[in-house]
Amino acid sequence: RHYVAIMAGGIGSRFWPQSRTAYPKQFLDILNTGKSLIQWTYERYAAFIPKENIYIITSEEYEAIVAAQLPELATENIIAEPSRKNTAPCIAYISFKLLQKDPEASLIVAPSDHMILDNENFRLITLRALDFAEHIKSLVTLGINPTYPNTGYGYIQHEAMPVADGVFKVKTFTEKPNLELAKTFLASGDFLWNAGIFVWKVKNLVKAFELYQPEMFELFDGMKTDYNTPAEKDAIGRVYPLCTNISIDVAIMEKADNVYVIPSSFGWSDLGTWNSAYDNLEKDYLGNAVASNNVIVIDATKCMVSAPHNKLLVLQGLDDFIVVDTKDVLLICRKDKEQAIKEYVAEVKRNK
Ligand code: GDD
Ligand code: MG
Repeated sequence: RHYVAIMAGGIGSRFWPQSRTAYPKQFLDILNTGKSLIQWTYERYAAFIPKENIYIITSEEYEAIVAAQLPELATENIIAEPSRKNTAPCIAYISFKLLQKDPEASLIVAPSDHMILDNENFRLITLRALDFAEHIKSLVTLGINPTYPNTGYGYIQHEAMPVADGVFKVKTFTEKPNLELAKTFLASGDFLWNAGIFVWKVKNLVKAFELYQPEMFELFDGMKTDYNTPAEKDAIGRVYPLCTNISIDVAIMEKADNVYVIPSSFGWSDLGTWNSAYDNLEKDYLGNAVASNNVIVIDATKCMVSAPHNKLLVLQGLDDFIVVDTKDVLLICRKDKEQAIKEYVAEVKRNK
């Protein structure tokens, strides 16, 4: 009765130029570990969820990449979306599909691009979340102790007393606050980051869609007889263009009154940017992080270097730079200016 849906439809633009729309970061081995992020994610769940209950939900254009990277996954467990509509439609789709198959299904919804170091503790916490969600009509999320006012995360405030072992009722959920608000949240000491990993009974999530996203509910409910039949592909092709482009955090989590959080620590990090890759990599004695084997660094300090192809890269005398060499693009960018990467990507797209 336990299922997991791994969402793998994002484009990972802040890891440009290594991450491309045609081959985004969840399919890359950003940290040079021998496996891609989605392969690590799959293994993390395959350790305690039956393989036939693991679904990957992604854009049509990535279906073949998923199949190639996860050969043991059955093709019917790769769910293709006809367009990119952010996480709410993606989660509604898989939830309605599962509900039709198994009305009592419990579902873990997971991103495909995170790092988790302590898999055993992660498994125990996730099982606790599943157990709670099976007994209480709830939407459970995992919370992480925040360390700085990151504006790319959701912030969660919870009640002081737990309602069950390590589980707290959520008072407020604020998705991607502005910097000022994020600073206030952090200073109050009262908030957790949303890890982006959710656990619920599918029927309770569907109920939340009915309450807070009635239009989307109608759309997906309207194709009830088509799920898991040959008509599904056409039906989803009609429904998707009508869906709002919205994240689950804004669509449901900010609004629902039955959200619970488990404060967690399992070595979580959201590999979101080159600086976060830098933080997660081993450094040499001058503080350089090198994510490839074919790099020689001389007299440089605190650089983030990645050259994922077969050309030798020699770096001398640079301090605090990101250097990423790919087949067709070389990026040299100051570490403290990495937020500008999004602008280059926009510029590159304009000039193509
Ligand atoms: N299938 C599919 N379709 N997957 C998608 C889509 C889509 O349209 N859009 C995003 N994804 C996938 C991404 O590949 C990623 O694995 C996951 O869904 C989350 O999407 P992000 O776009 O990375 O979300 P975020 O990082 O901005 O915010 C979420 O995660 C944070 C923690 O990393 C939120 O849940 C925040 O509240 C949270 O703090
Ligand atoms: Mg993310």
